[in-house]
Amino acid sequence: MTPTPGTATARAYPNIALVKYWGKRDEELILPVAGSLSLTLDALPTTTTVRLAPDAEADAFALNDAPQTGEAAARVSRFLDRVRGLAGSGARAVVDSRNEAPTGAGLASSASGFAALATAAARAYGLELAPRELSRLARRGSGSAARSIVPGVAVWHAGDDDAGSFAEPVPAPELRMVIATVDTAQKAVSSRAAMRRTALTSPFFPAWITSTEESLAAMLEACAAGDFTRIGRITEAHAMRMHAVIQSCDPPIRYLAPASVALFDRIAALRGEGLEAYGTADAGPNVCAIVRPEQAEELADELRGLGGRLGLGAEAVRVVGPGPGAET
Ligand code: PMV
Repeated sequence: MTPTPGTATARAYPNIALVKYWGKRDEELILPVAGSLSLTLDALPTTTTVRLAPDAEADAFALNDAPQTGEAAARVSRFLDRVRGLAGSGARAVVDSRNEAPTGAGLASSASGFAALATAAARAYGLELAPRELSRLARRGSGSAARSIVPGVAVWHAGDDDAGSFAEPVPAPELRMVIATVDTAQKAVSSRAAMRRTALTSPFFPAWITSTEESLAAMLEACAAGDFTRIGRITEAHAMRMHAVIQSCDPPIRYLAPASVALFDRIAALRGEGLEAYGTADAGPNVCAIVRPEQAEELADELRGLGGRLGLGAEAVRVVGPGPGAET
């Protein structure tokens, strides 16, 4: 199908970090305090259409068919201003976005959302951006979106400036991830606000920065070596460190729920029984475990059993794999 000039549709998938991004060195440019590494998933995408509306006075943004106002709409408009600046255009746009993941539930909907928006808007406004430039653009919407431009395992280089802070693919062994959804409610404190509070109030924040740099260097080595055990150990330790530094804020923030802790305990116990999996969790209560492909279904069955006892629904546990980068 020939694309209509001024209209573009893009799809992007969420990513789950194995080495987390937590904290900004530059709030305006969204430069992180350290690099990070993630797996872009093959499920729960965001699909976004951007249609230029040269006669309109304002941008319009709908999410899952619901017209958005306030900060959600303003954030999309500010992002479009950046695209308009690059394209030398003043045209407003109509943005229609559909999320298959629950929004704001710690399942990286802002990553897939801004990666899809960056890709669709760049095309609709006639920009020809290479993946690195698209990644930099997506970063300005939401830091983790820089990684959802990239298929599979992606490293986001912290960079010294705007030009150096982008994500790119890294070779890694085949992984699967089992997602256990504990709660789909919008989180109480946004990751943006919580990152700021962590940087301003946690006495552990400087150690978090240096240890993240070390974890990323070790993770890149483990990926290159195809060493699943090392990848897993770094993943789980680093997730626990992120939640520890978040909990050490004043006032404290706790994203993990009792069910999340029970899942982490079960994953550790399963390791003792020969099912080698490692857990992680973003800024929310949902737990994701990495596992070798051949053990993914067994792990999912185990976590479904526990999920049932914890009162989680039958749909709460699913197996996902490495997914594609953002595409129009
Ligand atoms: O991109 P943001 O501002 O939604 O931050 C996401 C931060 C975490 O998901 C908690 C960690 C990460 O690296 O994705």
